[in-house]
Amino acid sequence: MTTLPPVFTLRNVSVFMDGRHILRDVTTEILPGATFVLGRSGAGKTTLLRVLNRLNECFPGCRTHGDIRLHLDGQSINPYADEISLPELRRLVGMVFQHPNVLPMSIEQNLILPLVTVHGLNRDKARDAACHALQETQLWGEVHDRLAADARTLSGGQQQRLCLARTLAMRPRILLLDEPTSSLDTHSAAAIEELLASLKKRYTLVIVSHAVEFAARLADTVLTLKDGCVLDKAEEKA
Ligand SMILES: Nc1ncnc2c1ncn2[C@@H]1O[C@H](COP(=O)(O)OP(=O)(O)OP(=O)(O)O)[C@@H](O)[C@H]1O
Ligand SMILES: [Mg+2]
Repeated sequence: MTTLPPVFTLRNVSVFMDGRHILRDVTTEILPGATFVLGRSGAGKTTLLRVLNRLNECFPGCRTHGDIRLHLDGQSINPYADEISLPELRRLVGMVFQHPNVLPMSIEQNLILPLVTVHGLNRDKARDAACHALQETQLWGEVHDRLAADARTLSGGQQQRLCLARTLAMRPRILLLDEPTSSLDTHSAAAIEELLASLKKRYTLVIVSHAVEFAARLADTVLTLKDGCVLDKAEEKA
């Protein structure tokens, strides 16, 4: 079996927040397929996800060191240099947060607004892309007759899928998902899990989760973090 080349390589990556060492000398690869990031609360899982699309930089006291490379279409890009713009990086490396952050506007506008303002699509093309993303996240059947309704009237699981649809509509290559099922009931969590199983065939997924069984079902690769360090296989079993 041939191993596909990595999508990200990280060498000696450290993150400091207000001088505190949060990620410590992380050297690892993100391979195509589904990577699960496991570890206790405070281990640095979300920080690691945010390294990949430079979201830690939203915090003024944050410093990131080390070598980070994104490999796409035969090119090796340093996301921390001027080789790619920040909006383009965050489009290619989309993120879905733990708590659904729907915008206080209609279901349709939640999808269309970023496409028009960030992607520069005209409204017809944006509407088509929105419709496609709703189908991809299996939300279309539930919302097609109330696209003008306020997105905040959707259930938690539906809001989570709307946020996923909003990210997918931007045509990312890599999806970062921070505990995508943790605030959902078993039924909604199962729906998201099924969806992610189909998405991992088309996108590289990096999923933070506390649910070991969920990881066992879906993961191609598991990274375990402890106190800001990635454990190797022997340490994981210890
Ligand atoms: N913006 C920030 N400013 C200061 N410290 C931060 C910031 N973000 C994270 N930290 C600290 O970094 C450490 C790792 O946080 P992180 O959110 O990455 O953990 P986590 O593994 O995702 O935890 P959880 O499972 O609880 O979400 C924690 O000690 C946290 O307090
Ligand atoms: Mg977290």
